[in-house]
Amino acid sequence: MSVDVPMSRAPCQPLPRHIAIVMDGNGRWAQQRSLPRTAGHREGAKAVRRIVRACSERDIEVLTLFAFSSENWRRPRPEVEVLLKLFLTTLRGEIRRLDTANVRLRFIGDYRAFPENLQDYIVKAERRTAANTGLTLVIAANYGGRWDLAQAARRVSEAVLEGRLQPGDITPAVLHSFTCLSDLPEPDLFIRTGGEQRISNFLLWQMAYAELYFTDRLWPDYDDGDLESACAAFASRQRRFGRTAEQVAQNQHA
Ligand code: FPP
Repeated sequence: MSVDVPMSRAPCQPLPRHIAIVMDGNGRWAQQRSLPRTAGHREGAKAVRRIVRACSERDIEVLTLFAFSSENWRRPRPEVEVLLKLFLTTLRGEIRRLDTANVRLRFIGDYRAFPENLQDYIVKAERRTAANTGLTLVIAANYGGRWDLAQAARRVSEAVLEGRLQPGDITPAVLHSFTCLSDLPEPDLFIRTGGEQRISNFLLWQMAYAELYFTDRLWPDYDDGDLESACAAFASRQRRFGRTAEQVAQNQHA
C-alpha cells in the first residue's frame, strides 16, 4: 500500500482538537549513532512529515510544533545555521504537498530575527495555504511563551493609550484575544518527546488546561503508533476544568 493512502483506523475518542509538541531528542538520537547533532535535526524533519500526515488523517484540527525557541539562539552558531536552513528547505520541499493535503500553515513567534529569505518564504507559505480548511499546522519559530505574553501586554497597553480599551476592561478573555493562536482552540494535548518533563517556555498561557504527556521516545523515532498511544492516554483522562469528578460525570450523562 502506498504510504500516501490513509489507513483506516478506529480513532480513540475523544480526540484532542489541538495537539502541541515539543520535539526533543534530535541531538541524542544523532549522538547515539556517532553522527553530528545536525543529522538528528534532519531526521527530525522526517518525523515532522510523518506526524503532520498522521494528524491530518486523524482529522486533528490544529498541530503546533515547537521548531525553534527564543532560547535556541544560545546553541552553537553552526547548529543554529543548520536549523534555519533546514526550516527553509523543508518548507520549500513540503509546501506543495501540504497545500494539496488542504493543510493551512501558520507561524507564531518573532521571526523577524530570521534571515530575510526565510521570512519571505514564511509569508509566502502562509498566504498560499490561508484558505485551506484541513489541519492547521502551526510552526512556533523564535517563539517563547513569555515573549507571547509580553507582546500581548504591549499591544494591550497601546490599546489603552489610544483609548480603545479601559484598564478595567482587561479580563482574561481580553488578554487572551491579544495572545498568539487566540482564534484557534486551545491545545488540549501537550506531548514532549525525549524523556524530559518540562514545558520549556512553550505555550504558557494557552496550555492552562492541556493534558501533559511525556515520552522517552526521541523525536526522530516518533511515529504514528506513538501518536496513537498519546491520543489513547488523552482519551482515558477525565478533564474537569475546575469542576468535581461527579459534576463532570453528571454532565457526560446529561
Ligand atoms: C530539540 O532537540 C529540537 C530542536 C531544537 C529543533 C527541532 C527541529 C526539527 C525537528 C527540524 C524541522 C522542523 C520543522 C518544523 C521544519 P535537541 O537538539 O534539543 O535534542 P537533545 O535534547 O537530544 O540534544
